[in-house]
Amino acid sequence: MANFRQARWNEPIVFELGHTGQRGCVVPAIENSIKQQLGNVHALLPGKMRRRSPPELPELSEVEVVRHFTRLSQMNYSVDLGLYPLGSCTMKYNPKINDALAGSPSLTELHPYQDEKTVQGMLEILYNLTKWLAEITGTSEITLQPAAGAQGEFLGALIMRAYHKFNGNLSKRTDLIIPDSAHGTNPASATMAGFHALVIPSDETGCLDIDALETVVSDRTAGLMLTNPNTLGLFEENIEEIAAIVHNAGGLLYYDGANLNAILGKVRPGDMGFDIVHINIHKTFGTPHGGGGPGAGPIGVSEELEKFLPIPRIGFDGENYCLDYDKPHSVGKVRGFYGNIAVLLRAYAYMLSLGAEGLKEAAEVSVLNANYLVKKIEELGAYELPYDAKRPRKHECVFSAKPLQKDNGIRAIDVSKRLLDYGVHAPTTYFPLIVEEALMIEPTESFEKDELDRFVDAMRKIAEEAKVNSELVLKAPHNAAVTRLDEVKASHPRTMVLSWKTLKESRE
Ligand SMILES: Cc1ncc(COP(=O)(O)O)c(C=O)c1O
Repeated sequence: MANFRQARWNEPIVFELGHTGQRGCVVPAIENSIKQQLGNVHALLPGKMRRRSPPELPELSEVEVVRHFTRLSQMNYSVDLGLYPLGSCTMKYNPKINDALAGSPSLTELHPYQDEKTVQGMLEILYNLTKWLAEITGTSEITLQPAAGAQGEFLGALIMRAYHKFNGNLSKRTDLIIPDSAHGTNPASATMAGFHALVIPSDETGCLDIDALETVVSDRTAGLMLTNPNTLGLFEENIEEIAAIVHNAGGLLYYDGANLNAILGKVRPGDMGFDIVHINIHKTFGTPHGGGGPGAGPIGVSEELEKFLPIPRIGFDGENYCLDYDKPHSVGKVRGFYGNIAVLLRAYAYMLSLGAEGLKEAAEVSVLNANYLVKKIEELGAYELPYDAKRPRKHECVFSAKPLQKDNGIRAIDVSKRLLDYGVHAPTTYFPLIVEEALMIEPTESFEKDELDRFVDAMRKIAEEAKVNSELVLKAPHNAAVTRLDEVKASHPRTMVLSWKTLKESRE
């Protein structure tokens, strides 16, 4: 998209728009007959809960609201706009039928406190979803409760604790082993759950180093957390040997399901030997992710671990669905009610519309697309493919911008920023940490061959620009809504302004 240009509105925040008394909708007055029935409505609320003054809300007309958000959307980028190869985030196209189902009033108007007899349809959907996810992951039972992959990891680690406690050796089982190619949430979740995150190196092929694993495994091992295919897009072929080493030491195996899209319908984590598996619903099953979109991170466990799953569990006696709280060994709850329902409903619609064969095909095309990019980008000769270039990748590949850095002073971040000018979202940059100047590229199954070619073409042009006009790349983006940001300031809690209150205070 050579002529890609984002709008640059100098848009005030919504609180600074509008005028006192302006309204987008008029709430109908309470009818007199109802007023009489209710009496003094204010008296219905306990005094302590009543506001002294009305809340400070923006006062805008409907058209002002629509224009405000339309202008903001013109400064944004999304999967609905173009290629979004954000590695390990699986930014696939999210079919609109998913939103239609999740927005259906017969589902959105339910309340989690309703009597379960009146929400049998919703419980049936959630129950079916657990069964489908169990089938896909090769696990025995699923909980839909966690709201993200990271929360699934945390819950998985809590279940490991519960298992070792149940067996009377929690005080000894302190180490959760994690390879150095793992996502940062893995050691964070392990630590939050009270384990010592023991990081081991990858070997020269980019996979888990079996010798290193054997060296650290002991009766202190609580378990191992592994992503397969790993964050380099490589399948851990020694997974059965790895599982045996950990199990023989009395530990459990945790599967980070961020990359499940690559193996849907092909192999199942449960069959590889994993005891606990999380599923990033928002990556694999068609809900927008990235940039902090809503998520769901159900986890599946082996039969032995079922009793530790959070409550309530959704049960079915052949006639009725129910919410079962009677689980004395449960770790409790990690989230209110039953999970992030709107995201789970989207996954249900996505799985129903694709069917088993469709899901398998999605995995196949995602792998085909990634390997097409590997070949085409390698042919450019400008980027390096670390770790066994001959081995096929699964759903994603990690290139290094080291050659450009050496010859032209252009780093991975500069390539990513310049890609924005070509109308492509940046790949995941500087992750995994084991690759210098990493550009982690995941095209997903949603992109046509000509779009993939356009991406390769942009990568080629950037490599040429690096040679003849490096300033152009170093100062990119030029066509985006904002130019080069201060990366530290842009993500530092002290400088980020995340609420109207803070902005107002900073202006005052
Ligand atoms: C490999 C890997 N593991 C775990 C996570 C955490 O998932 P979530 O963002 O849903 O918390 C991510 C997120 O991108 C990831 O890439």
